[in-house]
Amino acid sequence: MNAFSRLAAVVSLASLFPLAALAGEVEVLHWWTSGGEKRAADTLKKLVEEKGHTWKDFAVAGGGGEAAMTVLKTRAVSGNPPSAAQIKGPDIQEWGELGLLAELDEVADEGKWDTLLPKQVANVMKYDGHYVAVPVNVHRVNWLWINPEVFKKAGATPPTSLDEFFAAADKLKAAGFIPIAHGGQPWQDGTVFEDLVFSILGPLGYHKAFVEQDKATLTSDKMVEVFATLKKLRGYIDADAAGRDWNSATGLLIDGKAGMQLMGDWAKSEWSAAGKVAGKDYQCLPFPGTQGSFAYNIDSLAMFKLSDEDDRKAQNDLARTVMDPQFQQFFNQNKGSIPVRLDQDMSSFDTCAQQSMKDFKEAAAGDGLQPSLAHGMAASSYVQGAVFDVVTNFFNDPAADPKKAVQQLAAAIAAVQ
Ligand code: GAL
Repeated sequence: MNAFSRLAAVVSLASLFPLAALAGEVEVLHWWTSGGEKRAADTLKKLVEEKGHTWKDFAVAGGGGEAAMTVLKTRAVSGNPPSAAQIKGPDIQEWGELGLLAELDEVADEGKWDTLLPKQVANVMKYDGHYVAVPVNVHRVNWLWINPEVFKKAGATPPTSLDEFFAAADKLKAAGFIPIAHGGQPWQDGTVFEDLVFSILGPLGYHKAFVEQDKATLTSDKMVEVFATLKKLRGYIDADAAGRDWNSATGLLIDGKAGMQLMGDWAKSEWSAAGKVAGKDYQCLPFPGTQGSFAYNIDSLAMFKLSDEDDRKAQNDLARTVMDPQFQQFFNQNKGSIPVRLDQDMSSFDTCAQQSMKDFKEAAAGDGLQPSLAHGMAASSYVQGAVFDVVTNFFNDPAADPKKAVQQLAAAIAAVQ
């Protein structure tokens, strides 16, 4: 075979396997491992595979993603990061500073991301003016989940204020139910704490505390009240809460053993996976005292620099897929979140998602839209870790003093600023 016919053979083989010729591999690190969230992650895997690429799943279990971030750091330090990783909020800037993230500007221009995304979201995805991450969804953290059947049996009323919340908890307790399904893990304690700050300090006070980390706000009487309320709330969780995963806590509601859960709307992924219907089998209420406000948690996939050309193409296809309206619909209907595109048709979404989208837009028009601290949106992971330490220690110590806790909070944050 001469050189020309060898080339012709290669060319014709390539035309026989066009997908294989363009196919690459994407390794994606995430922590979507609960039953419901896995269904959502699988929708992304399927769409990427349909484009001819290989999906290498890099799932690291552990709600809130702390374990996943530790594993990611180890992989990055050894010079072998995955193609994409679930990195969120201000952390994207830190990875960008290390020079490890790939630019997605070409895909973003072609997909008109700047026009499709809320500005606030687009800015978080950019490092030094360039897109380095693609947003997947918008989660709302300040939700209260309710099993209406349990409420009915206990004669309790869905609460709209903190007083009503504790009144409902008393009724549930008296009727023999677990009033509040909780998992004693630092990020879950932090999620509950954040809800109380949002409710008691309001969106502007919340902003001052967590985004500005203003000392006077962190040590204010209102913050003392937050810790005192957290202590009270502790009396309504069951003795087995320590270490429990968030999805097991949701399971207690689904099984009719508990009445309420304070959790972001990824909890809905479990209800959906169990075939339950929003507004009928379960109710989503803005956490009492935070009506009209929205604590956001945006999941995003940051892209790492790769040397293999085919893998780079696969990485770009992954980014394109994430912004695709069909993916935004399938994924978010399974995940419990709302789409990140402003132009998305919401008619096939359930009542909780529709309310979430409405509240998101309304909150964005005023001061009500605030970044979640417990989910890495408001501050660095160091500040987040400092808050978790103080809150979890307080939560686990029945003798802890709210007045001392606020001083510890301010000191712990100052130490990592
Ligand atoms: C959040 C993440 C969500 C969900 C949740 C529970 O931080 O943004 O997508 O996975 O943790 O693990």
